[in-house]
Amino acid sequence: MINRLNDLIDIQKKRLPDINARREKPGAVVGWQVLVCTGTGCTSSASHQVREELAKQVQSKKARARVIKTGCFGFCKMGPLVVIYPRQTLYCLVKKEDISEIVEKHLLEGQVVERLLYMEPVSGERKKRLSDIQFFRAQHRVALRNCGLINPEDITEYIACDGYFALADVLLNWKPAQVVEAIKQSGLRGRSGAGFPTGRKWELAAAAEGPVKYVVCNADEGDPGAFMDRSILEGDPQSVLEAMAIAGYAIGAREGYIYVRAEYPIAVDRLERAIAQAREYGLLGRHILNTNFKL
Ligand code: FES
Repeated sequence: MINRLNDLIDIQKKRLPDINARREKPGAVVGWQVLVCTGTGCTSSASHQVREELAKQVQSKKARARVIKTGCFGFCKMGPLVVIYPRQTLYCLVKKEDISEIVEKHLLEGQVVERLLYMEPVSGERKKRLSDIQFFRAQHRVALRNCGLINPEDITEYIACDGYFALADVLLNWKPAQVVEAIKQSGLRGRSGAGFPTGRKWELAAAAEGPVKYVVCNADEGDPGAFMDRSILEGDPQSVLEAMAIAGYAIGAREGYIYVRAEYPIAVDRLERAIAQAREYGLLGRHILNTNFKL
């Protein structure tokens, strides 16, 4: 249960070594971490079989490795994807039949399985590291920063990545009007057709008359072929809940709703788990961080 800022800091300290190893911070080595993408794209190519087989063989062959679920990396056409840290080795189009080679060669002998590396289409070069791949090299991720990095079903990994520290800061140090002003100043806009300024929307909602207000997250994304909402919900659902809590505080809402497509079963499942975990940790509900704010 998180009652104080220090509780958040304690969790972050405990989980940071794993995340730092994935971010390749100097000195952060915690053994093999095998990340398996379990977003919708890779799941449709049977990544769950890959993950189950990996977990089984890691155990039976006594490899010193942990198998961890992630959300989408954004490289679905090459899925199922497996990324192994340290060294950030990306294996593409992995099948259940490839697992014994990955476990024996990579996890037990420390060697790379060359045939599963990504091949750049123009140069024909095999790339050993995810960040060396042209597709990833030019990317600077903001909203998707945690997708493919953290286990979306583990709130402590989100906290390790500074999750809920913005909410704590807002609840402990800011007045609602200051939050609205900061969002206005930031220039943040909606990412659908209208590009409506978020700060202005929050300002109007805060000023609206009426005894009860709601914060509503539209995660329906009806546009054909658009999967940006799904990627966040599957890969980093706690970030949506934290943002909703901040919005709720800013506009005076104490209840929130998320409208999500039934056609997104993984997103719905991850959201439900995320809500349950946030409640369990006291980050949704009454007296969040020992304040009078509830959501
Ligand atoms: S779902 Fe695995 S990379 Fe997109």
